[in-house]
Amino acid sequence: MQGRHYLVTGGSAGIGLDCVSLLVDQGARVHVVARGQSGLDEVKARFGDAVTTVAADLAETEAVDQVARHLTDHQVTALDGLVVNAAKYGFRSLSVSPTSELQAYFQVNVISTIQLINMALPRLRAGQGRSIVCVSSTLSTRPIAGTGAYAASKAALNSLVQTYALECATDQIRVNAVLPGVVDTDIHEPQTDQDPPRAEKMAALGPQHPLGRVGRVRDVSSMILFLLGEQSAWTTGSLYNVDGGISLV
Ligand SMILES: NC(=O)c1ccc[n+]([C@@H]2O[C@H](COP(=O)([O-])OP(=O)(O)OC[C@H]3O[C@@H](n4cnc5c(N)ncnc54)[C@H](OP(=O)(O)O)[C@@H]3O)[C@@H](O)[C@H]2O)c1
Repeated sequence: MQGRHYLVTGGSAGIGLDCVSLLVDQGARVHVVARGQSGLDEVKARFGDAVTTVAADLAETEAVDQVARHLTDHQVTALDGLVVNAAKYGFRSLSVSPTSELQAYFQVNVISTIQLINMALPRLRAGQGRSIVCVSSTLSTRPIAGTGAYAASKAALNSLVQTYALECATDQIRVNAVLPGVVDTDIHEPQTDQDPPRAEKMAALGPQHPLGRVGRVRDVSSMILFLLGEQSAWTTGSLYNVDGGISLV
């Protein structure tokens, strides 16, 4: 991966940040997308010239154009891999979900993914790594009550990964997804006064996984790195559970 270029969305925290770290360790140049400038500034301070950062909110329809302009401004004409990792997550019963909220889930988790992949494809054809990895969720195949919009959007994501795998195969561009179980990241910070503290939530959810614990970011980022790399050269259209076995119970 030395000197190769990768685009990672949601690369300022959690799973995405650990991907950036693994890629930089391999000698890659990584272009990082997130909304918050302060998180991006920390990424820049930590990784220096190995990264460029762009603040863009993938809930906005013009965000991908912003990312494209950023790549052009930095003379990034070839990409070796794309990690579509940023997502909208939350809880609300489908029966009371406002239309605007449903649209926001699908804009961030589905439509912006299509926009990102379409924007990246010419650059991926010009690169050598030719791999796209999307971060889905075990909830996409095994929803729980209250996660309907998120789960449905991630199920759509799984489907589009497989369609792109077929459509991009002639260019030798591979498209795969990872489906994490519960991973201890900021996504689990309490969203309302009724939510338990994150540590308490993680302690309760760990034993529900057959392997007896919640995930660590490295559990998922190492699978993403494998799917970006040449060791997975004959793998496309695959949906990998990385979940401590929770999708089996
Ligand atoms: N953690 C889990 O238990 C779990 C389980 C299954 C699947 N996943 C999936 O794993 C992926 C990463 O989640 P995580 O747990 O690592 O989350 P996280 O720690 O909360 O990090 C999310 C990252 O995405 C960025 N982001 C969020 N919304 C964005 C938007 N609208 N536009 C651009 N960037 C945005 C965040 O930065 P800003 O806030 O500054 O934008 C941050 O860099 C997501 O696709 C999630 O659905 C996570």
